[in-house]
Amino acid sequence: MPSSDLLARVTKLRQEIERHNHAYYVLDQPLIPDAEYDRLFRELQTLEAEHPGLATPDSPTQRVGGKPLDAFASVRHAVPMLSIRTETDTEASGAQAFDARVRKELGLADSDPPVDYSAELKFDGLAINLRYEHGVLVQAATRGDGETGEDVTQNIRTIHVIPLRLSGHLPPDVLEVRGEVYMRRDDFERYNAKQREAGKPTLVNPRNGAAGSIRQLDPAMAAQRPLSFFAYGLGEVRGWEDAPDTHSATLDALAAMRVPVCGERITGPGAAALIAFHDDIAARRDQLPFDIDGVVYKVNRFDLQRELGFVTREPRWAVAHKYPAQEQLTTVLGIEVQVGRTGALTPVARLAPVFVGGVTVTNATLHNQDEIDRKDVRVGDTVIVRRAGDVIPEVVAAVVDRRPDPAPPRFNILQSYPVCPECGSHVVRLDGEAVARCTGGLYCPAQRKQALLHFAGRRAMDIEGLGDKLVDQLVDRGLIRTPADIYGLRQAELAGLERMAEKSAANLLAAIEASKTTTLARFIFALGIRNVGEATARDLAQHFGALDKLVAANEADLLAVRDVGPIVAQSIVQFFAESHNLEVVGKLRAAGVHWPESTGLQQSAGILTGRTLVLTGTLPTLTRDVAKERIEAAGGKVAGSVSKKTDYVIAGAEAGSKLAKAQELGVTILDEAGLLALLSKTTE
Ligand code: IVH
Repeated sequence: MPSSDLLARVTKLRQEIERHNHAYYVLDQPLIPDAEYDRLFRELQTLEAEHPGLATPDSPTQRVGGKPLDAFASVRHAVPMLSIRTETDTEASGAQAFDARVRKELGLADSDPPVDYSAELKFDGLAINLRYEHGVLVQAATRGDGETGEDVTQNIRTIHVIPLRLSGHLPPDVLEVRGEVYMRRDDFERYNAKQREAGKPTLVNPRNGAAGSIRQLDPAMAAQRPLSFFAYGLGEVRGWEDAPDTHSATLDALAAMRVPVCGERITGPGAAALIAFHDDIAARRDQLPFDIDGVVYKVNRFDLQRELGFVTREPRWAVAHKYPAQEQLTTVLGIEVQVGRTGALTPVARLAPVFVGGVTVTNATLHNQDEIDRKDVRVGDTVIVRRAGDVIPEVVAAVVDRRPDPAPPRFNILQSYPVCPECGSHVVRLDGEAVARCTGGLYCPAQRKQALLHFAGRRAMDIEGLGDKLVDQLVDRGLIRTPADIYGLRQAELAGLERMAEKSAANLLAAIEASKTTTLARFIFALGIRNVGEATARDLAQHFGALDKLVAANEADLLAVRDVGPIVAQSIVQFFAESHNLEVVGKLRAAGVHWPESTGLQQSAGILTGRTLVLTGTLPTLTRDVAKERIEAAGGKVAGSVSKKTDYVIAGAEAGSKLAKAQELGVTILDEAGLLALLSKTTE
């Protein structure tokens, strides 16, 4: 390729990749399949590797992180990074006090019009200065002491939402964007769940997760942590034509350059606007996808900001208005276990009541034995409890300094609970599993109760009013044992229960009746098959269309369903192999539980349905990912190794041992043309 074409191609690829990054990570609306993205990315990587002269720091290939550092270099901030005054009054009056101070400093009389403010969230993470020169990210630094921070450019580059190049035609000569690196709650939970499963250390909270990741000397480690960023202001600015003259317009301008800016912000006149925002966010704080510790109010006009100036290190034009903390100290009164639907024993700390994240917390999860060991939480310890969002409160750490003397013994689940506290069956911990389990199965009332609650849940059969108190009574009195028994309940039986007025009994019976009309996906989910969550239930329903087909499916049939792997397939086969489960399903249908059925995807799938293919070597035109997708779209499955069960091996250039194995086993071998011919039959 001539060098001008090459440059054009590389530039085009970079633009495309960054556009897709933005769509995927920021807007959460991918425009192309992952495989296509991977193809663009690999093409760019290859071109840069072949022509090192073309590599630039703003190339998306630079996001993967470079070599580990020995230490961070110091960065002197061109404009100091200030902190912000905190209004200690957590009530609405905090906003009034701020407005009154601003008006006084500006010399405004009561009769003067209200000051315009901008209100936004106070993100709980790590402050970062991003320096863009002529639109290219050249440096990222922490706040440090405000004058001097640390150069964390390598780590910041791994954050996909941060643009390596600003979007737009006329970038300022210098534009320093200031904002907060943070971790979303779902990313934090997912990361920790994964770590927990692997027996690896977990992050204490999203803030430490964000701050700790950025301070990692090894960018490859930082790259594994799911981080996000929101801009909230500027540092040094040079040569910005048409620079906005208000804070809110500045954030809009940054958003237009594809810098992430949080949408939860307002501008409005006077204290009333601030109070409304404060109260609105307070009511929705738990539903936000990330932690905040308050809101920030800023005078919107820059000329007024300049007039107000600073006191020591804090601007007079901004204030942080906090919410009650989401972490508190308390003591562990005891450690007990809860038996879950699958028999898992979850250790729970009983706590001295403490007000945290807006509610009084008396219990907090300790997850499993590994977590207890790692955090070394003991009865009598002072601990940090965290409750953020709708997540179950958890003990994040023990304050070892405050441990009673002599130190209480370590807690061990199997020693304290050799048998299940609910049913007396043995408790075991299987090799490689993080959890201890009760072996009682449906004999164990706790498992039975949880299975019933799951069945009645909102996303399952949605039986309103059938909550834990009621299920407890119904199971304890022997009125129900299996989900099928729910449909045999009578008014007279319900009337005898605690807190069950005639009206509520009638309502419950109506809800039970209404739940009979459902969908196949809900019904499958409601059965509580191990490893079958809502999404899998939906995929299964869509694939098979009818329950009988799912019941009859063998592992190979199940493996043809999207996202179903061997473990899920095995759980499903085992579930329907149990006669008592089939009996319950039969009784539910006999009681009138029904759903629309369809023919499913099986018929419409291609001729590769049920076939296993293996790809080896380099195909002349198809990339491996594209070949795999096409095969899967035709119903086939792509496996990694050749066995007797392999139907076809697709061999390209430089195919090695897999080809030899295929020849040895007599498996049909095709080249790319052969594969395409096969695929074209499926689309006829
Ligand atoms: S403005 C001159 N806005 O809170 C004002 N700060 O002490 C500079 N923070 O370390 C800060 N969210 O990292 C501002 N929307 C927001 C913020 C915010 C979080 C952090 C910031 C700084 C601290 C203020």
